[in-house]
Amino acid sequence: MSTPPIPAALIEILRQARHIAVLTGAGISAESGIPTFRAALTGLWSQYRPEELATPAAFRANPALVWQWYSGLRATMRAAQPNPAHYALAAMQRHAPKVTLLTQNIDGLHQRAGSPDVVELHGNIHHMKCSAEHEPVEAWAEGSEEPPPCPRCGAHIRPDIVWFGERLPDAALDRANEAVRTCDVFFSIGTSGEVEPAASFAPRAMGHGATVVVINLDVTTSEARWLYRFHAQAGQLLPELVRAAWPEAAA
Ligand code: OAD
Repeated sequence: MSTPPIPAALIEILRQARHIAVLTGAGISAESGIPTFRAALTGLWSQYRPEELATPAAFRANPALVWQWYSGLRATMRAAQPNPAHYALAAMQRHAPKVTLLTQNIDGLHQRAGSPDVVELHGNIHHMKCSAEHEPVEAWAEGSEEPPPCPRCGAHIRPDIVWFGERLPDAALDRANEAVRTCDVFFSIGTSGEVEPAASFAPRAMGHGATVVVINLDVTTSEARWLYRFHAQAGQLLPELVRAAWPEAAA
């Protein structure tokens, strides 16, 4: 896929920005080989809808099934490597005055690409918690019981992620709201914008005066005063965009 040109006006806006907020979704990890959320239930899992597995009720009804689905996904995510889009955002964080990186992803790839500070809105699949006490569980025996028991209370453990119908972590949401209010530029990258509250971050940021930049495969490339849309693969466009705005990042 050819990459759309990056308008000079946008490069100037990025160079002037004091605070850039970035929201990423499953599309940024697609080029690392992780299926996007809405394409994730393939093969054996194609008979389920995400809402049937990613809920507290599903876990209560069939904990082994939900555990096995997430174990497979965790193995895929552990084996994946960050791609040029993750590295480009880490470079942006090093070169722009302030970047708040918000992600809906649970794969940990931003951190592995060197991003020092990542706001995980939906948790992290590599972390576990007790399903009864909701306290973190550091060590568990994978492969014995499914799901393994909490070493403290014996209840099932579960991935420390946000399921449909659950609240986002307060601290992460506070940081997101602050970024939405105060950023000069808001990037929405690789997300379909179907799941709240993240879906309304970009329009809210625009309401506060930010320029919004959208990169995904659902939009048509277009350019307006406050809104730049790119139909592009993040792993191709973002490195170019970061090099154009911060040439020193290429060094
Ligand atoms: P989706 O699977 O809904 O959307 C993926 C988006 O990435 C789509 O807009 C694609 O066009 C775009 N895309 C695919 N490949 C791309 C690429 N190489 N470069 C750029 N964009 C690309 O994933 P999310 O929007 O992240 O939440 O889903 C949001 C939330 O829905 C997930 O975090 C999950 C789910 O419910 C929970 O589980 C709580």
